[in-house]
Amino acid sequence: MKKLLLALAGLIASSMFIVASAQDEPTPEQLAADAAETRQSVFKLFRFNIGPIIAMTQGAPFDAELAERNARRIASIAPMIPDVLGAMDTRGYAIETEALDLIWDNMDDIQVKAQALIDAANEFADVAAGGDMASTLGAVRGLGGACGNCHETYREDND
Ligand code: HEC
Repeated sequence: MKKLLLALAGLIASSMFIVASAQDEPTPEQLAADAAETRQSVFKLFRFNIGPIIAMTQGAPFDAELAERNARRIASIAPMIPDVLGAMDTRGYAIETEALDLIWDNMDDIQVKAQALIDAANEFADVAAGGDMASTLGAVRGLGGACGNCHETYREDND
């Protein structure tokens, strides 16, 4: 009887351990939510950097140095796009995301579109480095187009 009780106690203890360690481990849902937050952070950085450039097309004072600097930042962050999208296939999880499912069937194209953004951002930065307002503002469309070109296909809210 004592043996049985001991065995039972051991069983209870080990099942409590399983419950405790299950609580420590993030659930797949939590991992998916985390992966979505991480990639959204990268995209928020794009918005943070392109915002002042777009503002210049809408009447904010022209600042060639700021335009060049922010575009170079975008070019240097853009290689992370395939990394953060590829980090976890979050299809089928109930998480907040605007990422469309077909992303994970088209990672090669994601790579191409990320590279297109790198090229567009560097091209824009080169124009801005020239310091000419008209040609810099004229080049904004090319940079923004590289964002929209991916959103059109892979983002739910494709503004
Ligand atoms: C290769 C594809 C791709 C490119 C290029 C791209 N995006 Fe996105 N973007 C996405 C996807 C996919 C999402 C949705 C991510 C999610 O909700 O999980 C997104 C989401 C966003 C969001 C919303 C982030 C949030 O708050 O949830 C912003 C803002 C954004 N992108 C801005 C930009 C800007 C600005 C550029 C260009 C400088 C850009 N993106 C280039 C694919 C792209």
